[in-house]
Amino acid sequence: MTAPAQALRNPVFVAVDTPDIGKATAMAAQVADAAGGLKLGLEFFSANGPKGAQQVQKASDLPLFLDLKFHDIPNTVAGAVRAAAAQVKPFMMTLMCAGGRAMMEAACKAATDVAHELIVPRPLLLGVTVLTSFDQNDLLETGVSGGVADQVRRLAELAKLSGLDGVVCSPLEAEMLRRDLGPDFKLITPGVRPTWADANDQKRIMTPQEAVAAGASYLVIGRPITGAQDPAVAAARIALELNPAA
Ligand code: C5P
Repeated sequence: MTAPAQALRNPVFVAVDTPDIGKATAMAAQVADAAGGLKLGLEFFSANGPKGAQQVQKASDLPLFLDLKFHDIPNTVAGAVRAAAAQVKPFMMTLMCAGGRAMMEAACKAATDVAHELIVPRPLLLGVTVLTSFDQNDLLETGVSGGVADQVRRLAELAKLSGLDGVVCSPLEAEMLRRDLGPDFKLITPGVRPTWADANDQKRIMTPQEAVAAGASYLVIGRPITGAQDPAVAAARIALELNPAA
């Protein structure tokens, strides 16, 4: 039997972008009572591996979003999903949709199998469509002649067909994807900034409320929280702005 998915306090995943395990666990502890979850990516994982991810999780007891963007042959990605799901037990994790249908299907089967075997919640599997660092010209250089929005939609549809639970997308793509892919498909959006925070290097942004109204299921927010004088206060303020009744 697969254990039921964990309920989240709120939809905000704090991006902990550091290779430093001490800084990451300190940040995790600071936002433990205010955030919905934590996101760890390649920078952290390359430095600290699954044991480091476990330490961060323990420091906060928050669900983890493991953003490792797997992209390889189906057998290898299935093995990586199995290993990560068994050791880190993330709430959700990413793979590149460009890896194709067989790769995504193999990842889904691996996630389901490991959840049954170990009686842990099956991690949500999310596709990454077109990196937001890509523009039309970058796409053309990789042999894709259509527009960015068309490619995002095509890959998101393929992700859904292949059994994935959702995709990571720009908040500006959320409305189109929510309309095209239905109410149950998860949309995870970085590029989110409260009105009171700096945009930093993010160019196409929405506020948390706008992103949720556009259809986002979960939000990834880094520097407005991690760079704030009091990260817990910043995370709590965002959660309150999203749900003033709470
Ligand atoms: O600090 P900030 O809120 O900009 O952090 C956003 C997080 O989301 C970072 O971890 C960044 O790598 C990630 N991300 C992003 N844009 C994407 C995909 C991921 O900003 N398209």
